[in-house]
Amino acid sequence: MTTAAPSGELPAPTGVVVLVSGSGTNLQALIDAAGDPAYGLTIRAVGADRDGIAGLQRAEAAGIPTFVRRVADFPERTAWDAALAAQIAAHAPAFVVSAGFMKLLGPAVLGAWTVVNTHPALLPAFPGAHAVRDALAYGAKVTGCTVHLVDDGIDTGPVVAQRAVEVCPGDTEDGLHERIKAVERELLVDVVGRMARDGFTVTERKVTIP
Ligand code: GRF
Repeated sequence: MTTAAPSGELPAPTGVVVLVSGSGTNLQALIDAAGDPAYGLTIRAVGADRDGIAGLQRAEAAGIPTFVRRVADFPERTAWDAALAAQIAAHAPAFVVSAGFMKLLGPAVLGAWTVVNTHPALLPAFPGAHAVRDALAYGAKVTGCTVHLVDDGIDTGPVVAQRAVEVCPGDTEDGLHERIKAVERELLVDVVGRMARDGFTVTERKVTIP
């Protein structure tokens, strides 16, 4: 629960921008959570790197402004990075949530905002775009999900929270990913809400939410 302001009213919610590339079930979990004023978060906009995805439709259905910036529409990656940063800046978020956003962010975005990402493995194991496939191929018996801050590496930023998911005999990539995503959504909602309500500090690689 959010601590009530002295007047008895809830403090103003923390504004974020959420970035997506796909089905947007993590986004939907945040949209649903933010429907409760006590959650302390408002999604000011949803950005994507591609058109026609369910994640954008979910935002539109919730009445949240959307924008799309496709890498292919820019002469070079730095121009895309700057254009994405300009769109995010227009919504003045306190921080950015990358919820299944499948592009590496550049310095214009990373230099301006803390970006929280969710990844479907227990980092530092299995970074990259095929984390579930890689965990299965490795024969891992336990995998899971990680909410972390984004730095300029590939899934190398400071860990905020993690949860484990058992790998079952006969698991397929899709089946295991769905079980991970169920846990991932809960973890993301919990962590992002606490960051929005209580703030956070980063000392070396240690992320603390008071
Ligand atoms: C999540 O597992 C996320 O960690 C990964 O892609 C998936 C996105 O799922 N990068 P959704 O679009 O939120 O349904």
